[in-house]
Amino acid sequence: MAEPALTTTAPASRPLYAVVLAAGAGTRMRSSTPKVLHEIGGRTLLAHALEAVRTVGADEVVVVVGHDADQVGEHATRAAPTVRLALQPEQNGTGHAVQLALSALAELAPAGAAGAPGLAGTVVVTMGDVPLLTVETVRALVADHDGAGRAVSVLTAEVADPSGYGRIVRDGAGSLERIVEHKDASPAELAGKEVNAGIYAFDVAWLGGALQQVGAANAQGEIYLTDVIAIARADGLGLDAVALPDVWQCEGVNDRLQLARLGAELNRRTLHRWMRDGVTVVDPASTWVDVSVTLECDVTLAPGVQLHGHTTVAQGALIGPDTTLTDVAVGAGAQVMRTHGSGSVVAAGATVGPFAYLRPGTVLGEGGKIGTFVETKNAAIGPGAKVPHLSYVGDATIGASTNIGAGTIFANYDGVDKHTTTVGAHCKTGSDNVFVAPVRIGDGAVTGAGATIRDDVPPGALAVSAGSQRIFEGWVADRWPGSAAAAAAAAESAESTPEEGSS
Ligand code: UD1
Ligand code: CA
Repeated sequence: MAEPALTTTAPASRPLYAVVLAAGAGTRMRSSTPKVLHEIGGRTLLAHALEAVRTVGADEVVVVVGHDADQVGEHATRAAPTVRLALQPEQNGTGHAVQLALSALAELAPAGAAGAPGLAGTVVVTMGDVPLLTVETVRALVADHDGAGRAVSVLTAEVADPSGYGRIVRDGAGSLERIVEHKDASPAELAGKEVNAGIYAFDVAWLGGALQQVGAANAQGEIYLTDVIAIARADGLGLDAVALPDVWQCEGVNDRLQLARLGAELNRRTLHRWMRDGVTVVDPASTWVDVSVTLECDVTLAPGVQLHGHTTVAQGALIGPDTTLTDVAVGAGAQVMRTHGSGSVVAAGATVGPFAYLRPGTVLGEGGKIGTFVETKNAAIGPGAKVPHLSYVGDATIGASTNIGAGTIFANYDGVDKHTTTVGAHCKTGSDNVFVAPVRIGDGAVTGAGATIRDDVPPGALAVSAGSQRIFEGWVADRWPGSAAAAAAAAESAESTPEEGSS
């Protein structure tokens, strides 16, 4: 087939497309969740793959879906709203998948020369289950490919265990000749350690025609994308294999062992990046940070910390040991120790824990304190306010500089509805209080120990609710005569009763 020679337009002006293959079944995961929707670093495998091709600035990104197409497609469009989906109902091979993706792209393409629809430019093809591929690698591949004006550029890697991978076959001069799949390879070809990383850049106009020439006469009866390499060579077009020294970037996830392995490597890379940016990570082995987390310099992560989602930690804050935060914003210089928290804000200089549970809607003001064995939910605790010990604070507002006594319960639930408690600024509430919502305690008010506050307390008032103490003398001796308690009571009474004639 006579293909026209490739036109080498200036790289900057060349349209760039990306195709992410994600139609496979992933049976080795043994999961009811589609393989590409499993997560590492707080993001699905597919979202990692999409991130690399989106941030490189592709004009269009097509995800090929097949197995669990609805679920995978919905996730892809949520992760990257501009992606297009191409459905591959049966997985007839990577070449077939790319054909379908090119058809989807052609529908979007402006009419080519002479009014015929046509795609022009470069298309990058990657896999939905290869999560560590970086945008820098994709960018370098595209620049190299466009600069050389090739039909095909394929990334290759030297792996310790090449089994399962397609092998790179080079001619006597060392030039790329073809790729042979593991199942189709001869013993001599299997001995090669240079493998196809499965990441490519193609001239998109040429690729469509080349794929039409690929058959399925191979061990798997599939249309192999890799067969276009031999076609480019036969057509005398530019092709090359570009080495990918960082082998992790082409590793795919096929089972849960690889999921854990790549998850650990991603975490290691994330922590290295933060350490280089000035974060102290005391024990990287027990510290897990999602890719979506942001840390500032001089943050310290003590051992046993997990930071998830959109957690942010500002300069100089200390997190841990043994703390898990999801979508929590921690202010500068704050300390959060042995705490489990989500959907919360801890302002600058505040302290939390040890042993605190921050539930969504907790907002702790500057210099405030949520102490030991304290649970909070939907609670705004003002600047300098303190809830130091053994308390539940739900659906509450606490004013600045107020101190809540040990063992206080904000009773927010009447069995049907939730109600709010408001405690003003500069209050001092007694130990073992219950605030029965809805109720309001005015600014500067004080409550006595053991108070159950059912009615509003005016500003500056003292509220007590426990009845006056009553004494029943000799009650124990009457009730349990001869008991150890009765004997102890009698002994103390005798000691404290002045003896006759002693004065
Ligand atoms: C493929 C390459 C192999 C390379 C390896 C790198 C081919 C023929 N082989 O092999 O040379 O070394 O990747 O990892 O391309 N997929 C579809 N539709 C299909 C088939 C596959 O979308 O019909 C998707 C899968 O979901 C997966 C990716 O393509 O994300 C790779 O498919 P897979 O069958 O795993 O290819 P390999 O055998 O690994
Ligand atoms: Ca396969």
